[in-house]
Amino acid sequence: MGIGRNSVTFVPLVIVLYFITLHSCTSIEIIRDPETLISSGGVFKLGFFSPGNSSNRYIGILYNKIPQQTVVWVANRANPVSDSSGVLMIDNDGNLAIVDGKRRNMWTSNVTGIAYNTTVELLDSGNLVLQEMNSSGRIVWESFKYPSHTLLPTMKIGVNPKLGEKLKLTSWKSNSDPSIGDFSLELDSVSIPQVITWNGSKRHWRTGPWNNQIFIGVPDMYSVYLDGFSLIRDVEQKGSIYITYNYVDTSSSESFVLDPEGTLIDELWDEVEKEWVQRWLGPRKECDIYGTCGPFGVCNILNSPICSCLKGFEPKSIKEWNMGIWSGGCARRTELQCGRNNTNNEKEKEDGFLKLQKMKVPDFANWVSASDIKDCQEECVKNCSCIAHSFPSGIGCMLWSEDLLDIQKFSKAGVDLYIRVAHTEIDKRKDARLIIIITVLLGVFSISFFGCLLWRWMTQKGEKKIKYNGSLHIDRVDVTSIAYPDPHKLGENPDLPIFSIEKLAIATHNFNAANKLGEGGFGSVYKGKFPDGQEIAVKRLSKSSGQGSKEFKNEVVVISKLQHRNLVRLVGCCIEGEEKMLIYEYMPNKSLDTFLFDPTKRALLDWTTRFQIIKGICRGILYLHRDSRLRVIHRDLKASNILLDEELNPKISDFGMARIFGGNELQSNTTRVVGTYGYMSPEYAMQGIFSEKSDVFSLGVLLLEIVSGKRNSSFYRQEQSSTLLGHAWRLWNENNVQALIDPGLSESFFQEEMLRCIHLGLLCVQEFAKDRPTVLILLSMLTSETSHIPTPKQPAFAGKQTYSDSEISVRSQGECSINNASITAIQGR
Ligand SMILES: *[C@@H]1O[C@H](CO)[C@@H](O)[C@H](O)[C@H]1NC(C)=O
Ligand SMILES: *[C@@H]1O[C@H](CO)[C@@H](O)[C@H](O)[C@H]1NC(C)=O
Ligand SMILES: *[C@@H]1O[C@H](CO)[C@@H](O)[C@H](O)[C@H]1NC(C)=O
Ligand SMILES: *[C@@H]1O[C@H](CO)[C@@H](O)[C@H](O)[C@H]1NC(C)=O
Ligand SMILES: *[C@@H]1O[C@H](CO)[C@@H](O)[C@H](O)[C@H]1NC(C)=O
Ligand SMILES: *[C@@H]1O[C@H](CO)[C@@H](O)[C@H](O)[C@H]1NC(C)=O
Ligand SMILES: *[C@@H]1O[C@H](CO)[C@@H](O)[C@H](O)[C@H]1NC(C)=O
Repeated sequence: MGIGRNSVTFVPLVIVLYFITLHSCTSIEIIRDPETLISSGGVFKLGFFSPGNSSNRYIGILYNKIPQQTVVWVANRANPVSDSSGVLMIDNDGNLAIVDGKRRNMWTSNVTGIAYNTTVELLDSGNLVLQEMNSSGRIVWESFKYPSHTLLPTMKIGVNPKLGEKLKLTSWKSNSDPSIGDFSLELDSVSIPQVITWNGSKRHWRTGPWNNQIFIGVPDMYSVYLDGFSLIRDVEQKGSIYITYNYVDTSSSESFVLDPEGTLIDELWDEVEKEWVQRWLGPRKECDIYGTCGPFGVCNILNSPICSCLKGFEPKSIKEWNMGIWSGGCARRTELQCGRNNTNNEKEKEDGFLKLQKMKVPDFANWVSASDIKDCQEECVKNCSCIAHSFPSGIGCMLWSEDLLDIQKFSKAGVDLYIRVAHTEIDKRKDARLIIIITVLLGVFSISFFGCLLWRWMTQKGEKKIKYNGSLHIDRVDVTSIAYPDPHKLGENPDLPIFSIEKLAIATHNFNAANKLGEGGFGSVYKGKFPDGQEIAVKRLSKSSGQGSKEFKNEVVVISKLQHRNLVRLVGCCIEGEEKMLIYEYMPNKSLDTFLFDPTKRALLDWTTRFQIIKGICRGILYLHRDSRLRVIHRDLKASNILLDEELNPKISDFGMARIFGGNELQSNTTRVVGTYGYMSPEYAMQGIFSEKSDVFSLGVLLLEIVSGKRNSSFYRQEQSSTLLGHAWRLWNENNVQALIDPGLSESFFQEEMLRCIHLGLLCVQEFAKDRPTVLILLSMLTSETSHIPTPKQPAFAGKQTYSDSEISVRSQGECSINNASITAIQGR
């Protein structure tokens, strides 16, 4: 070859030389310390930085608008540039590369087979992308595929066996050294997916299994993260599985960081305080560290010592156990009968299961298909190597056959775990249980009794204070007794006119039955007229309802803070002795349901009016959720709580159930589910979890009711569908949603708008909160004809029978209330 080249003509040699020079010239400098590359929306920047106390220079991606240096990704983690001579460039082979002043290569993206010139771009998601410049623009490399210690929204953690891809977080060595530390975070998908952090090759912390919404071993997830996370399985790429998260509200900066000590921290930027708000996900306490109590040990942070053996088990080594060395774990006290050759064993000597509540389930579960908890237990009974089972909703039947490791007892959240024990252990337990039950019942009774006394005493005190002031001052004691999440957020005391009972009696002709507008669970509503001609609606809380008092104060505090043309205006209130009244502006057209569900009055609501009403309700709720200084979840949206003024403008009323949320709180849960049957979202009705998305659910039901002119509940026990939602869903699948439109709506040229409302209604009532749009997005989809609307998934309560009242009211236990009926049945006033 060499000889050949010498013998050929001059011309090709020149070409070869030219080609080489071109190549070495094509390495393009991108940034040179201290320049930065900023993403198009200015969210992130790429540049050199020095971490902590180090003077070394690293290339990293940082938040651009956040004043504190916050690094989310590092390129040359192990090879820093020791001075400020570093350059990031696109190398002549198309790769990204970092070189120092002596042109020594410190890092490269190291992709082979790049066929075209490449460009580099930093996206607003924080992803740094290297792309070929030919027309297909193949992405040859991206930083999201090489995570550092931070998980950003839309970034993924997981595996794709086919591509040999494994995405995991790796901690920094220390805050001053971004090189790879001891800890890593991975998605474990051997059976039911869970996230595990590793300390080297040892399991350090695990989230517990994924239930399609959250990881059930992280108590905080039950109330806060329901919306954001999702699991992606690629059906075509078998075995490919990723976890990712994203929030609809993309304006806030949030990330999950694996810190050098191996703790996973959720960081949220507080725009007001200009600081990172950190929430530790885990491990937070000693109990969270993997396997703290050894096999068959249970960790409970409220106990001392924190470790104990499962019922029916005893420490393997009592000596070690008493010294606080729990890693040896526990062993069974009585052998199981199952699998033993005992010919003369009677039936009643069979092993049984002990139920443990609020548990973090053990590691290494096997998933089997089973239709319910009984079925699951049978699966376990069948196989003698099965020693525990659990059937959490969203997961199904889990069985365990190895040592039970990493079990925790939570004080909130968690699931039921059933462990197999010899029958002798069961009997012992029963006696103990009876005693415990009696003790607990006595305890609860006396606590609630004294609690109620104390509470009454406190509220009476509060009332006196209010009365003397002449205007309403809700002080700290009152506010906390209403159990707000953050009383400080309530700001100054509202000054609201106080009316005397005499004045109100005159205005309502002594609360004449003829002036009654409606009757609700907490009392009656009367029409009234002040001498100056102002018309009012007086909500008089029934004296007997002890429960109403709490809602009363709630309503006063909430509503006096809110001002919007789609919210009913509070004119004043009255508190005298046992009497509690709220005075509203009078709405001559009463409530939406009196129009919508009345065959004659319905005709008055043409489509233009109905669409105005829909938009008005959405604006009102948007104000509650987003625009008002306080974030308010209404919790009881329904047609009878939408009042109409003389021009049929909608005004949202009845804030008795509303909850004010603190700054960063997105969701909450309650042991007391209060709301209206048919309008309640599944997560609220069943788990007591409420958020903006539970209001969106109610809004969706309202939307469908307004377009169809039918009550959601009117479908109850009809043949084909049990609810309006089910009916709408069936028509949607039959491609026949037009059939849902109220036949009285004749304006066919608006049909597209009506169909869009049905479509959006179906989006709002989807089973999973995360699938439902926010009100902001809903409103923009409602008013823009062009925007793309996603396809809805099956609504909650569509196929199945709706939940029975008894199922819901179970959750009202443990409350300080005599009244067990937790579902209000306020009808229109
Ligand atoms: C920097 O050094 C100071 C003093 O040695 C120390 O207190 C601080 O924690 C260090 N900061 C980091 C990020 O390591
Ligand atoms: C680039 O990748 C190859 C194989 O994938 C590996 O052997 C080599 O060490 C890598 N080089 C650098 C500088 O990372
Ligand atoms: C690569 O870029 C160089 C200079 O920008 C240009 O001359 C050359 O044609 C490009 N090559 C390809 C294959 O696009
Ligand atoms: C762009 O490059 C990729 C691979 O580098 C190749 O598969 C594709 O055909 C190219 N596209 C065009 C239009 O040349
Ligand atoms: C990580 O593992 C090492 C070695 O086993 C141990 O010394 C260290 O304490 C562990 N770190 C944590 C945070 O548990
Ligand atoms: C049960 O009995 C069979 C035969 O009678 C014997 O082979 C087996 O080892 C026994 N198993 C146990 C656990 O005793
Ligand atoms: C019993 O369970 C073990 C562990 O899950 C499994 O390996 C075995 O096949 C099961 N046996 C039967 C009969 O199902």
